[in-house]
Amino acid sequence: MLVMKNLGILLSGRGSNFVAIADNIDAGRIPGGRIAIVISNRSDAPGIETARQRGLQALVIPSKGKERQTHDREVVAALKENKVDLICLAGYMRLLSPWFVRQFPQRILNIHPSLLPAFPGLEAQQQAFAYGVKVSGCTVHLVDEELDHGAIIVQKTVPVLDTDDEHTLAERILEREHIAYTEAIKIVLDGEFEIVGRRLVKAQRSEVRLQK
Ligand code: GAR
Repeated sequence: MLVMKNLGILLSGRGSNFVAIADNIDAGRIPGGRIAIVISNRSDAPGIETARQRGLQALVIPSKGKERQTHDREVVAALKENKVDLICLAGYMRLLSPWFVRQFPQRILNIHPSLLPAFPGLEAQQQAFAYGVKVSGCTVHLVDEELDHGAIIVQKTVPVLDTDDEHTLAERILEREHIAYTEAIKIVLDGEFEIVGRRLVKAQRSEVRLQK
């Protein structure tokens, strides 16, 4: 029997990564995954309206004017109430407090529009374009206590064309993001991995290990 895992999506804006995940779940491409709740820290995030229209549980927990820890506690309470197993940050423009991260060890994913560790932080596509890189892309990684830093699950490359500007580059990266996030969720839900140093690798079964 397939054990269902509850996903919690956190977003702050447009929500195209959330929509790609939701579409892939609906199409049966993330077996065992279902979206239990979508949370936004901004009431005007288009993604939260989309979540409502799709009939998903959608919650706004405003962050403005609140201490990080206070806001994080409210978000964590909502995630726990909804028995969330895996949290997907999908354009969630808030740094999680160390306390938040410790509540869900190795169960928080983030997507970032660059090949980390290059260009962490805001406007990564513009940073990469201005730097003049010939290849950029996106990264889905586990979230740890540092910004854009945890173990890498999936990366996709995108060539930078001479005809690109920062917008066309960002658009092509976004297309790859929508594929990368689902791949990463499947890897984590399968659970057949281990973290060796910073490296996420396929788990070695004990009989395979013994043969070595
Ligand atoms: C995406 O490009 C995502 O990689 C980026 O925000 C955008 C959200 O788009 N996230 C970060 O830069 C996090 N450091 P979306 O709302 O359409 O999914």
